[in-house]
Amino acid sequence: MTDLVRDDAPGDGRGEPTLGPDLLPPDAVPAQPNTDVLLEVRDLEVHFPLGGGLFGKKRHVRAVDGISFKVRRGTTFGIVGESGSGKSTTALAVMRLVEHTGGDIRLDGEDVGNASGDALRHLRRRFQMVFQDPYASLNPRKRAGAAIREALDLMEIDEPAKRDARVRELFLKTGLRPEQLMLFPHQFSGGQRQRIVLARALAANPELVVCDEPVSALDVAIQAQMLNLMQQLQRDFGLTYLFISHDLGVVRHMCDEIAVMYLGRIVEQASREQLFSSPLHPYTLALWSAAPSFDPRTRGRRNRIRLQGDPPSPIDIPPGCRFAGRCPFAEAACREREPELREIAPGHRVACHRVGDDGRALYPITPDAAEPGASG
Ligand SMILES: Nc1ncnc2c1ncn2[C@@H]1O[C@H](COP(=O)(O)OP(=O)(O)O)[C@@H](O)[C@H]1O
Ligand SMILES: [Mg+2]
Repeated sequence: MTDLVRDDAPGDGRGEPTLGPDLLPPDAVPAQPNTDVLLEVRDLEVHFPLGGGLFGKKRHVRAVDGISFKVRRGTTFGIVGESGSGKSTTALAVMRLVEHTGGDIRLDGEDVGNASGDALRHLRRRFQMVFQDPYASLNPRKRAGAAIREALDLMEIDEPAKRDARVRELFLKTGLRPEQLMLFPHQFSGGQRQRIVLARALAANPELVVCDEPVSALDVAIQAQMLNLMQQLQRDFGLTYLFISHDLGVVRHMCDEIAVMYLGRIVEQASREQLFSSPLHPYTLALWSAAPSFDPRTRGRRNRIRLQGDPPSPIDIPPGCRFAGRCPFAEAACREREPELREIAPGHRVACHRVGDDGRALYPITPDAAEPGASG
């Protein structure tokens, strides 16, 4: 899926009465940018040790190699990138399902990264995860209603006598029918199974839901329904999403802010509007070019970059910019120094030597200039 229609584009305020400052009701607070951070990840690093290396030197898979981002409450933060870029590992580390080897994870200021025992169990209720494959995350021998009831029982949510009513409510909220409560997972379609997974995740009243490719296993026709449901649930339950996908259409539909990951690092990060109207990192351009409806050239804007070859191994990451070996614009400096993620416009960060501090591309912007090897 590449081009979804957003049915909930934020209103632009037109049609609402405009009040001058002196006409505001006395207790009205002027609109502020949302600075309420729910999840903060700082310098997160997940290195997986490999078996004995040459001369006893320990080698690691640098799956996540120092990433930082903030997810504001009630919004959706997306992570996009090719397979192997470290998206799932980031999600698992945030959930404390794999151990991180460095950095900080904070939920609402509380230290998730170093929590253990009861403290971690307590924090865990506040975040839930939805995986790609709904079938794998459901017990095939457990009826749908019982699966959700079990989550309520385990976390001791509500009085036991009220839990069945709550199961029904979650069923209805996720678009399932009460007569389906007694069915087993295999009696549902893939989309319906993902609804059960969502209902179960919501049983805990989480604040943050980490979604790793939640619609990638579903038929394209079903994907938009699921995404719309997730947006509805976000509004109804005040959810915050950390949303991972390799699909640009899905990311554009869902996310307020987006980080583009490459080989364990964030190479570009911006609001949806900024990233889709003025992508800057050559890797972002390459991803956009690979998805026909986002190809910046067909919109007459920027270069088309054909991505060739594979990313380097996360075990032997070359010095300099990690994308240099595949970048048509790489220069000598790109192979020597790793570029920092710099803010080049409010909220827009990019890690590329070939982008100036003012956000101007220093690489040629002409329609056909960008075949790999054409420069640098
Ligand atoms: N448990 C693990 N042990 C060793 N390497 C791993 C492990 N999990 C993931 N990796 C490696 O880490 C890198 C990032 O993987 P992953 O986070 O799954 O990427 P993505 O979700 O973006 O496809 C890949 O090279 C993958 O092979
Ligand atoms: Mg993954």
